[in-house]
Amino acid sequence: MVQGFAKVSNYLFIEIDMSAIQVKDKLFEPYLTASEINGQVQRLAAEINRDYAGKKPLFIAILNGSFMFSSDLFKAIHIEAEICFIKLASYKGTKSTGQVITAIGLDTDIHDRHVIILEDIVDTGKTLNEFLPQLRHQQPASLELAVLLHKPEATRFPVPVKYLGFSIPDKFVLGYGLDYDGLGRNIPEIYKLKEGAE
Ligand code: IMP
Repeated sequence: MVQGFAKVSNYLFIEIDMSAIQVKDKLFEPYLTASEINGQVQRLAAEINRDYAGKKPLFIAILNGSFMFSSDLFKAIHIEAEICFIKLASYKGTKSTGQVITAIGLDTDIHDRHVIILEDIVDTGKTLNEFLPQLRHQQPASLELAVLLHKPEATRFPVPVKYLGFSIPDKFVLGYGLDYDGLGRNIPEIYKLKEGAE
């Protein structure tokens, strides 16, 4: 159950019972707890701390969805590092539109830098598949991906994820930065669309 949210409908969502919440017209069931998410975030940060010591990596967080993952992961990075943000979008409701829009571009020089992209989720892979070549063109010293969630069954454009939190089924998820039509990003856990409620 999500802690600290009210049950009435004019708040963030309606808590149906212990097993479901409603956001707008859809029902979601609990999937990953805050503690499970934190465990994977800490593991990824430890691997990056080990692999990038002395390399002063530049993290590029892709907004909006990755803001919570990026913040928690970056707090667990203990080596010298920088972070900047870009905004890409391709989703409307629970479906990808297939069109990737750059809403806020990159304002940092990545030439010769060790770059780590931070992304909340790889679904079809289209977003990163379009964005990575633009970055490679600027000749970073290295370029790797740290991704919290990956839906391998949905992936149509292969994306080489070096640091992965969870491999998940092809189900729409929300919480921990991920939204359904703008809502649900502030839920500390991850929920998935309830079986049979699509
Ligand atoms: P892709 O380009 O299809 O890989 O989609 C990537 C983007 O779509 C992610 O950065 C998310 O913003 C959004 N997205 C994909 N799957 C989900 C989901 O299950 N819930 C919420 N957003 C999603």
